[in-house]
Amino acid sequence: MVEAFIFDLDGVITDTAHYHYLAWEKLGNEIGIKIDEEFNETLKGISRLQSLEKILILGNKENDFTNEEKEKMANYKNSYYVSLIENITFKDVLPGILELLEKIRLNNIKIGLASASKNAVKVLNNLELTKYFNFIADAAICKNSKPAPDIFLMAAKGLNVNPINCIGIEDASAGIDAINDAKMYSVGVGDREILNKAKFVVDSTEKLKFEALIKLFEVKN
Ligand code: BG6
Ligand code: MG
Repeated sequence: MVEAFIFDLDGVITDTAHYHYLAWEKLGNEIGIKIDEEFNETLKGISRLQSLEKILILGNKENDFTNEEKEKMANYKNSYYVSLIENITFKDVLPGILELLEKIRLNNIKIGLASASKNAVKVLNNLELTKYFNFIADAAICKNSKPAPDIFLMAAKGLNVNPINCIGIEDASAGIDAINDAKMYSVGVGDREILNKAKFVVDSTEKLKFEALIKLFEVKN
């Protein structure tokens, strides 16, 4: 029996994955590192500082900055990102997500959030979706970020459910690894090749249908 649905935020509930990309691209331009969409894929789901480290390695600049300078760059990226998410509203909820949340709630199944973002609460509030979530895992106190299962396990614990009875939904390959390692049923949204370790993949959020997901989960058990 499905006890909970646990969602990633950026790229699943709203298209903030694109805003993260724009913000890293802006920082990259200023320090002379070109970030393209393909490379950006490898940044999805991972923490702010880990993303910065990857970008510096890409540009062979990993030894060029002190920790203090790196902190400043991460803050710079975040300030721009925060300015981009300032104006998002319920209209920015991706297609099918509201209907899915409504159906989960109607069926008395719990809903959790397992986002790596420290801006998650702000984004959910701007989207007016906070009321649907029974528990929001706090990335700021999560020791190991995705692909480690920690944030999904934190969400299951906060919801007081067994991870094996959870469906996790993600747009990032690192997130699918996290869900699988947490022993949850993994659902990917996006490119089938990139998300090839997911148990089930849809190419867009409007294809996330409550009844179909429940059926898939039941068949696997
Ligand atoms: C994840 C995004 O949800 O959150 C990553 O997929 C991002 O791209 C990470 O780096 C951390 O977000 P933030 O808002 O704390 O910088
Ligand atoms: Mg994501």
